Amino acid sequence: MSTELNSQGSSTPSRKRSKWDEDEDPDDLSAPTHIHVPKKRAKHRVPRSQLLEQKSPSLSPSPPPPSRKHSVYVPPRTMHPPIQSSRSVYCYERLNQIEEGSYGVVFRARDKQTGDIVALKKLKLDEEKNGFPITALREVYSLMSCRHENVVRIREVVVGDTLTQVFVVMDFIEHDLKTLLTNMPSPFLQSEIKTLMLQLLSAIHHCHSNWILHRDLKTSNLLMNNRGTIKVADFGLARRYGDPVGVGGMTQLVVTLWYRAPEILMGAKTYSTAVDMWSVGCIFAELLLKEPLFQAKGELELLSMVFKLLGPPTKNSWPEYFDLPNAKTITLPSPQPHAFRSKFPHLSTAGLDLLMSFLAYDPEQRISAEEALQHPYFTSASQESPLPKHPDLFGSFPSAAAGEKRRKAFDSPSAPVRAADYKLLTEYDIP
Ligand SMILES: Nc1ncnc2c1ncn2[C@@H]1O[C@H](COP(=O)(O)OP(=O)(O)OP(=O)(O)O)[C@@H](O)[C@H]1O
Ligand SMILES: [Mg+2]
Repeated sequence: MSTELNSQGSSTPSRKRSKWDEDEDPDDLSAPTHIHVPKKRAKHRVPRSQLLEQKSPSLSPSPPPPSRKHSVYVPPRTMHPPIQSSRSVYCYERLNQIEEGSYGVVFRARDKQTGDIVALKKLKLDEEKNGFPITALREVYSLMSCRHENVVRIREVVVGDTLTQVFVVMDFIEHDLKTLLTNMPSPFLQSEIKTLMLQLLSAIHHCHSNWILHRDLKTSNLLMNNRGTIKVADFGLARRYGDPVGVGGMTQLVVTLWYRAPEILMGAKTYSTAVDMWSVGCIFAELLLKEPLFQAKGELELLSMVFKLLGPPTKNSWPEYFDLPNAKTITLPSPQPHAFRSKFPHLSTAGLDLLMSFLAYDPEQRISAEEALQHPYFTSASQESPLPKHPDLFGSFPSAAAGEKRRKAFDSPSAPVRAADYKLLTEYDIP
């Protein structure tokens, strides 16, 4: 093993010029005075590299002649480039911290070999007692199986000196939509919103076609570059769907509160692609309003906001509602019509129809990404003016992530904490 690591000498450069060992004080760019290098770090390393389907050719050194005899039944790793060891984080020079989220800290960094600017997400593994967390595996797996123009590109996974230092390397993207919406002086134009929505739908259609649910779609997880292209990011809560579901059902603690679909709120044991489509509807509304649609403090408040906008659910609009676990604990308001038109007075009829199709109560009736891509809001030139704008015509903005200008975005709830301590709806919200 140590021979193999040494054979990658060129990809594990000197550590003196970097400072990935330090978590604190991201603005202090001086090199650390002492860096502890465990003697046998490779021996204890989890074989994360097996996760990577492929590395960029320039990053995989040509295999050296095996220096150790292997059994014929156990071919050397070098014969299987996809399962070679991960490179070291010291291949990157740390530039600045972009953000600390619930599941990781994200840094901007420079690839020392190519000079490329990248984003490194350091996975939070310090608290882990049960080995490498499934959520991290899912994140890497999902990013790899959903490669698409509008999904952030994963480059590789690199490791530091200790077992808790695992980093996902991605293309660096200048903005996230949440920060951008807060900082931009005027809202996106209709033609721009159409383009952004088409890109988002195209990415989500691709994920769903590859059996991946994102389960945490929100504006802070949508990145946008200075060429008007959206990249869906943060697959930390993603999972495969279509596999048999365990007896306990699927976890209900998914999707950040403001973007969480009503079937999850009502305790549905299984759910599917429609949960992502509800979040897409909330994002569409947020692009139009320039602020989040449902800024609720808890689940009950969120439900009452939903009831107010959509009108309470009925046997027609959501036949299964009355069988859902939490339906008995909720008192529905008296019947009333929806309030979409008054909330979105300037949206075209087709736009309103699309928004209502995303925010349909019944997951079975909710529009799919594939169907939404064909919606007249995007295509009908005669009724729908303006048509989507070409991404090249988007303005560019100072990048907060690159430290060009920084203002804290409005506070929104964080992604749900992982499974275990989930409580029922009624325990959370004391009205
Ligand atoms: N590839 C990237 N390029 C530039 N910035 C990025 C990139 N990936 C993430 N970021 C920034 O870091 C933030 C947090 O990243 P991410 O959502 O992946 O982490 P997280 O810990 O799962 O966050 P949260 O739990 O808050 O959703 C993003 O909102 C974005 O601002
Ligand atoms: Mg995030």
